[in-house]
Amino acid sequence: MGKDGVEMTKEEKAAKKAKKEAKRALEAAEEERAAKKAKTDDDLSPTKEGKEEKAAKKAAKEEKKAKKEGKAAKATEAAPAADADAGFTTFAATPFAPAVKNALSSGYSSPTSIQTHAWPAALTGRDLIAIAKTGSGKTLAFLLPLLHRMSTGADGGGGRSSGAGAAVAVRALVMSPTRELASQIHAEGERFGKLLGVPTAVVYGGTPVREQKAALLAKPPSLLVATPGRLVDLLDQQLIWLGDCKAIVLDEADRLLDMGFEPQLKKTFSALPEARQTLLFSATWPKTVRKLASKYLKEGEGTKHLFLGGGDAARAEDGSSDAAGGGGGGGGGGGGSAAAAAAAAEAACELSANTAVSQAFVHATDDEKDAKLYQSLCELEEGARVIVFANTKRRVDNLAKTFAEFGTCAIHGDKQQKDRESALAAFIANKAPLMVATDVAARGLDIKLVTHVYNYDMARDVESYVHRIGRTGRAGALGKAITFWNPDYDKECAPALIRIARKAGQPVPDWLAKHENAKATKLWNVDKADKEAEALLMGA
Ligand SMILES: Nc1ncnc2c1ncn2[C@@H]1O[C@H](COP(=O)(O)OP(=O)(O)OP(=O)(O)O)[C@@H](O)[C@H]1O
Ligand SMILES: [Mg+2]
Repeated sequence: MGKDGVEMTKEEKAAKKAKKEAKRALEAAEEERAAKKAKTDDDLSPTKEGKEEKAAKKAAKEEKKAKKEGKAAKATEAAPAADADAGFTTFAATPFAPAVKNALSSGYSSPTSIQTHAWPAALTGRDLIAIAKTGSGKTLAFLLPLLHRMSTGADGGGGRSSGAGAAVAVRALVMSPTRELASQIHAEGERFGKLLGVPTAVVYGGTPVREQKAALLAKPPSLLVATPGRLVDLLDQQLIWLGDCKAIVLDEADRLLDMGFEPQLKKTFSALPEARQTLLFSATWPKTVRKLASKYLKEGEGTKHLFLGGGDAARAEDGSSDAAGGGGGGGGGGGGSAAAAAAAAEAACELSANTAVSQAFVHATDDEKDAKLYQSLCELEEGARVIVFANTKRRVDNLAKTFAEFGTCAIHGDKQQKDRESALAAFIANKAPLMVATDVAARGLDIKLVTHVYNYDMARDVESYVHRIGRTGRAGALGKAITFWNPDYDKECAPALIRIARKAGQPVPDWLAKHENAKATKLWNVDKADKEAEALLMGA
């Protein structure tokens, strides 16, 4: 029925239909215009990439300004942006200050595997056990997160002044088992600390304590690198206050957790606040120290375990400290994840050899060692740089004299500190290309272009062997280890040595292979080594 009850003609109906269609077309056109407008508006708003670009530009500008004014550049982000499991595969992806990123990019092409995985975890303030091969960049793996957290205030420290008179309030502490290593870590810490305006200092024994005190008071550090003995001295004298220390790193953690340093460690940890971050780093992680370590770490999910397996593949497991192989002792975490973490830890800690270091063995009785070493040194190519390890201070001194014609220097624990330092400096400067040393030089020292390591005397245990030969073949370089095997004393080491060499694809001489089933001692027993004193030395 039509309007006013009037019947519509055919023409009227057609006109109405046309009008309707025209209206619909008009509405559709309007909708399309609105949609286009919305899209245009979206396009105008900055995308994520645009924002990042803008932020990067701003950061670069700030850095330039800071440089111009001679000031340290400030970090621009407080929290890591990476997915903790994927890690930071480029320096650009890290939240580090532009000045730090620049310094990294100008020296290296990308983060090493341990840096990729340790940085995100450490930056969040979590406790961490990080085990990765010798020469894999662990120093910056712990130093940069510490410095970043201090410079951005993410560590929550720095608010309280010292609680004990003139005591120096330290915000982060790195401990090292040896003086030379402490000094080396500090040099790296100072280099990056300067870029961020974080003052640093180092204290170690063998140097006048008065001078170190004066230096600490004159320029109180936020980051302190220390050897255990001197640190405890300064704590006893109430010169250092750790009440506001938010982070502690044990570099060469298994060595520091060894019984020898227990009293100093106990004292240090009792001076630290409960609310702190604890980071343990090493290339070896024997089961014997794991229980001790768990005393100092957060339980359950609070601690991240990072074991980098062969070929640099990362194994990252979250779990209780029990999961790291502590054995027994409750611990949080669901049974499943703890078991998985334990299995991963066991698998990752199996003895495996560093393919960057070739391993050769020389059959040599005590009477033959000097002649064989001489012969071998004469055959080395021009420019070789060599460390010879011996087990006693006297032997080290004698060897340095006997082989003086090759240009020797010597390091051991009985030497005056200044003599130790000048010996190391001569070796580093290549003025003395042959350094003879006890195990005081076995761990952590990063000396460029060391081509050969000799074990004139067999290392005392699996870990020591791993760390000694790790002085060469660092940061992607190749190296050679030559180990003298004395049939009178070293049979017990044979099974472990054979296993390490085979895993690295190294040929094992028949005379050594014969002793594959020799009875091993606790420190060199392979089965035990796998289960109890695993050393880790991963593929290049
Ligand atoms: N991202 C990187 N790329 C290449 N080289 C790096 C990188 N980061 C650090 N390095 C260099 O690698 C070398 C070894 O580093 P570092 O001494 O930290 O090793 P490490 O893992 O602590 O070894 P060790 O177990 O013997 O103590 C150093 O010369 C360091 O400058
Ligand atoms: Mg190191």
